[in-house]
Amino acid sequence: MPTTKARKAKPSPKKPQAEAHDNQKYDLRTRLIHGSMRTPKWDYSHHVVPPLTSSATFRLSSSQRGARGFFEFACDTIDTTRQVPIYIYDRLDEPTRGMLEENLAAAEAGEMGVCFATGMAAISASICALTRAGDQVVAHNTLYGCTYSLMTNWLPRQGVATRFVDMRNPKEIAKAINAHTRIVYFETPVNPNLELIDIAAVREIVDHANKGRSELEQIRVVVDNTFATPFCQRPLTLGAHMVVHSLTKGIGGFGTDMGGVVIGPKSLHNVLLMYRKDFGGSLSPKPAWNVLVYGLPSLAARMANMQKTAQYVAEWLEQHPKVEKVFYPGLESFPQRDLAETQMVDYRGKFAPGSMVYFTLRDKSGENHAAEKFINYVADKGYCITLAVSLGQIKTLIENPYSMTHSAYLAVDTNKAKKNGHGRGCETNRVEPGGIRLSIGLEDRDDIIADLESGLEHA
Ligand SMILES: Cc1ncc(COP(=O)(O)O)c(C=O)c1O
Repeated sequence: MPTTKARKAKPSPKKPQAEAHDNQKYDLRTRLIHGSMRTPKWDYSHHVVPPLTSSATFRLSSSQRGARGFFEFACDTIDTTRQVPIYIYDRLDEPTRGMLEENLAAAEAGEMGVCFATGMAAISASICALTRAGDQVVAHNTLYGCTYSLMTNWLPRQGVATRFVDMRNPKEIAKAINAHTRIVYFETPVNPNLELIDIAAVREIVDHANKGRSELEQIRVVVDNTFATPFCQRPLTLGAHMVVHSLTKGIGGFGTDMGGVVIGPKSLHNVLLMYRKDFGGSLSPKPAWNVLVYGLPSLAARMANMQKTAQYVAEWLEQHPKVEKVFYPGLESFPQRDLAETQMVDYRGKFAPGSMVYFTLRDKSGENHAAEKFINYVADKGYCITLAVSLGQIKTLIENPYSMTHSAYLAVDTNKAKKNGHGRGCETNRVEPGGIRLSIGLEDRDDIIADLESGLEHA
């Protein structure tokens, strides 16, 4: 892991300190709406809504101030949560994104957040900032397709290998960890099939493996919390070292903007800022403002409503004769129901199984003919269910992961099969051809069912 400049600097003189405000006593649902309220990032004590700043570069009163700004950026001795940073250039740091980062960190009970242009930019930063050639990542064998592609197509070019295991059995992780392992990476719930990984159990294994390792050799647990959102689950409180999100999904909530974030301990703040500065995937202030003003403040209200509908729809699907199986953590039949109840809880400790549903249809072909027919009918004739990738937004979305979001598995399989000269399929591919992913939105629940029902009639 690259170390950031260990520099000693005296704090700049006469910088306004953030006014202390005891907002910790308020429920997180309330704090998601009001944020830090008084932040050193920007003086908006007269605004009810935080301002959208939009300035690629910042006026500097003297070259000395410019030099000081560069010196203090990502500097170990400067605490920008307590004093106004010297803003220089948007790619490095800027106030609107900074306010969003404070609020996202609070939502996940983390010490800091660093926002990126997309979820994939955040995921690649979380891995690349912590690894170097020769290192190993241990990952769950089912991941969002582009994350799988990152690990199979791109990380190897940098000399970073990934070992895929079934993390539903945490003992598999212990077996896969070696002296080169630096990251244990997974999603929970898993995209697309909603498997759960026990975060606390993984941490226990990693703590054991970390014994006797130097700081640079530490293994860190990184969890993609995009499916659950912080409303349903806060991985840092369960043992993860870092959380990543696609802000494009549930947190952004309206499907208008892309974004990503890495949240974790202060000790990793500077390395992530330096990485973002040089690789350049910074989130622009305009999408940051939308997430800050619309997405995050409405997260709790949206998720509470959407997960009620998801429960209703999952129960309805489960009793339909054309449906083979349904996975939704809120169903009694969910194979990891006990884990779901302890791990997926809202801010008040109430079971929060989320807004994502996964199901398959009875299909004698063993391929995805029934799923394709059903999805195509819904895409053509449905009104409130849209065939589209992405998830977590106010509109209900449907897709076939095998041929769409997770097609990287098929591509990697096919290449491997060609190379090895034997049949299709690699041991890691558990994305089934007939799987259907449904991201429940805010529409009336019976309208969603009406579209599903007519699709099933024609499947
Ligand atoms: C679980 C998960 N993580 C990460 C991403 C990537 O996010 P983005 O599309 O914002 O790059 C996605 C996108 O679908 C996702 O589903």
